[in-house]
Amino acid sequence: MASTDVDTLLQQLSLEEKIFLLSGADVWQTQEVPRLGIGSIKTTDGPSGARGQFLVDGRPAAFVPSGACQAATWSKSDIQELGRVLCREAKTKASQVLLAPTVCCARNPLAGRNFECFGEDPFLSGTLATEYITGLQESGEVSATIKHFVGNEQEHKRLTIDAVIPEKALREIYLRPFEMAIRSSCPPDCVMTSYNSVNGLHMDMNAPILQEILRREWGFQGLVMSDWGGTNSTVESLLAGLDLEMPGPPDRRGKLLLQVARENSRADIPEVIDSSVRKVLSLLRKHHLLGLSEEEARESRTRVEVSSTSQADIALIRKIAADGIVLLKNEKAILPLGSADLSGRQVAFIGPNALFGPAGGGGAANIEPQYRTHPMDAFRAVARSQGVEVSAQHAPGAYSRKWLPKLSKQHWSLPASSSFAAPGDEKSLLQIDFFAAPDLSGPIAETQRRSNSWIDLADTSPKEFTVDPVPPFSFRITSVLTPRSTGTHSFSLCSVGASRLYVDGALLIENSRFTRLSEAFFTFGSAERVGTMFLTAGRQYTVHVEGWIRTDAEYHEILPDEVNPHFAAYPSVRIGYLEELPSADEMINHAIALADESEYTVVVLGLDDEWESEGYDRQCLSLPGDQNRLVDALVRRCRRPERLIFVHQSGSPCELPWADRVSTLLQAFYGGQEAGHALADVLLGVVNPSGRLPITWPRLYSDLPFASSPASWPDKDGTVHYTEGVQVGYRYYCHNPSKQPQWWFGYGQSYTRFSRTVLKLAAAGESWTLSVEVANIGRYAGREVVQVYGWPETKPEERQLVAFDKTPVLQIGSKTTLEVRVQLRDMARWEDGEWVLLSGNYVLGVGVGVGDASTLTRTIRLEQNRVFSA
Ligand code: BGC
Repeated sequence: MASTDVDTLLQQLSLEEKIFLLSGADVWQTQEVPRLGIGSIKTTDGPSGARGQFLVDGRPAAFVPSGACQAATWSKSDIQELGRVLCREAKTKASQVLLAPTVCCARNPLAGRNFECFGEDPFLSGTLATEYITGLQESGEVSATIKHFVGNEQEHKRLTIDAVIPEKALREIYLRPFEMAIRSSCPPDCVMTSYNSVNGLHMDMNAPILQEILRREWGFQGLVMSDWGGTNSTVESLLAGLDLEMPGPPDRRGKLLLQVARENSRADIPEVIDSSVRKVLSLLRKHHLLGLSEEEARESRTRVEVSSTSQADIALIRKIAADGIVLLKNEKAILPLGSADLSGRQVAFIGPNALFGPAGGGGAANIEPQYRTHPMDAFRAVARSQGVEVSAQHAPGAYSRKWLPKLSKQHWSLPASSSFAAPGDEKSLLQIDFFAAPDLSGPIAETQRRSNSWIDLADTSPKEFTVDPVPPFSFRITSVLTPRSTGTHSFSLCSVGASRLYVDGALLIENSRFTRLSEAFFTFGSAERVGTMFLTAGRQYTVHVEGWIRTDAEYHEILPDEVNPHFAAYPSVRIGYLEELPSADEMINHAIALADESEYTVVVLGLDDEWESEGYDRQCLSLPGDQNRLVDALVRRCRRPERLIFVHQSGSPCELPWADRVSTLLQAFYGGQEAGHALADVLLGVVNPSGRLPITWPRLYSDLPFASSPASWPDKDGTVHYTEGVQVGYRYYCHNPSKQPQWWFGYGQSYTRFSRTVLKLAAAGESWTLSVEVANIGRYAGREVVQVYGWPETKPEERQLVAFDKTPVLQIGSKTTLEVRVQLRDMARWEDGEWVLLSGNYVLGVGVGVGDASTLTRTIRLEQNRVFSA
């Protein structure tokens, strides 16, 4: 029987086998060694669910609210519970390692992945990440991977950018959430290094941070893996403590590392290899993947994925999605809408997101949801569940897409939409036939059906093509289009490799020799190419797209040097389509007419998973398309503007130049597959909003430090200088009182009113404890967040979040007392190489957001300086 003892296995493994274990075997799994009964670990993304083995169009999974939405709940217990849900979800995908949570800092609202992380404050992020990991790892069946370590605050040039971060900011802002989670009683089993460099060294080989801080200071015992394609060297990364190169097959290790080890030029290599193999084996042992029979080990990479989520887990997802909605304005007390008053009335849903309602942001955090809930349909359904039939009508009002919408069985906004279907299969959107030749010749090697026209073949190519090197294969996509309207229809292609689109055999888009790249496919897809054609409603048209990888020299010239050869080796394509739209003025007029004939109008605007995504940042903070024009027209021209309810949906702020002119406004972060129900719950008062902003909302981008310092965003000659130091988010506004944010970090209203009273402040040992009584003195049941900010009495500008807690639902007239503990360590600052808290008077302020923290304060004295071990 094969051994399960790590030391024994280390002796039995050959050098070649050890090196195998230090890189992935395929995109998601590690290498097995059947001879010794060693199986393979399966990883899966990511923070918004357990996606399983395909980046796009895989087996459905529970799509949970994004990190920003989770953070907006400020609920430790719910996020811990969500960790348990994600553990169950990862198991349905036969996976032992979840690639989450993301705790990078929302430094600049333009950053593409802000939606995925827990906002701008290290204490909020670190606390919630710890809860998430505790829930996820509690049963021992699934491991967390905290990421991206560290300094990955932008997507621009993310593979090569050097983030120059002053030490104080690095310690207090960027490393801190990682440190909190890793030093907690339930540290994550894995850490994922970021793609970028920090202070001149790529993170996968940044020994000062990986060895000195992570391993030595914080005592991290788990496994360190690279981000996908983020291993930048063979020897240096190994010496720095990067245990596992992901994904596989190996790019920097494998044969290259074997050669180095055999040359025996460095005495420390065998020892370092053993140390990393030990980490991989320990993780395998935790997940019972050692001691297998040869056959079990050989088959351990063939895993069956299912989609199965309990009603209780769905209920928690819905709860978090609703509790993450932030009520920003309710000046006319229009909300909540009493469903009884709506009976037989019409509610208008206006705006590009009103029908569609995106579930999350784009990139690795995106998953194929089990279903989607859309704002308008969900509103009707929730009202119906209360016994009320509401008539709801939709008008898009404005066009806001980044690229032409993907093909869909249900078009993005038009009630009568065109339909696409795979030939002979109404349920699928399209069919892909693969050929083993580069020019679509010969027999069909495999046929696949898809329901998404974003076709990423990096992990979904036929098995026979997923070998190293990738053979020059090609594919033909077929879908049958039945337009619902007669007019000029647009099609588009973005592709990795060459692509062409034909309608009924006629070439419409030639994209095989493109010379410009775009942001699609993690920035190495081609620019979007559009072709238009007059189509007749009700007729059937056959749409073909052909694709193959380009090998010409011209193509290689435009590919950035840093592109991971693995991802760029596969041809991939995104197909877009749009029916002829009315003009912008017509869309606005239609929206106003609809609003005027409705009792209430819910306007859902914002961003979506193509505006906010891994791989690129936004270029500006404005709302895309004609959305600002739409709001302006609605506010100015509607008969009853006080009946307009605005919902802004995004993972990060946009400039809202009209914010002071609307009376009712909600911020809904991406709520996952329950987003629509959650919004309806809040609109109809089933849930009283208790979300609080996890970011500070700027009025104007030009107010932020980045606007006047180009080296601080996005880069100067490949380097981004964090010149604002620790003045990130609210810390910046506190130090620059001439600037006022639109809304402070921590801000959010409720349908009810709460009173807060500090009953007691007691110092004991390493902490101060505030007893805060919260009473519901309003007219609705609801939850309140107690936020505690701390600062030296003489330096109010240095306030920072030091503790928080959330009440359970308080019924009208009831109260509760929360014991909120402030750890002295969380008050300390990084000064000259150590964490210090100077003696003196400190203020603890309790408030709804940073801007309100001075209204209820207590002062406490610290008699002696305190120094905390690094
Ligand atoms: C992302 C990671 C992700 C990995 C695997 C990378 O591009 O940065 O967050 O876990 O891909 O999908």
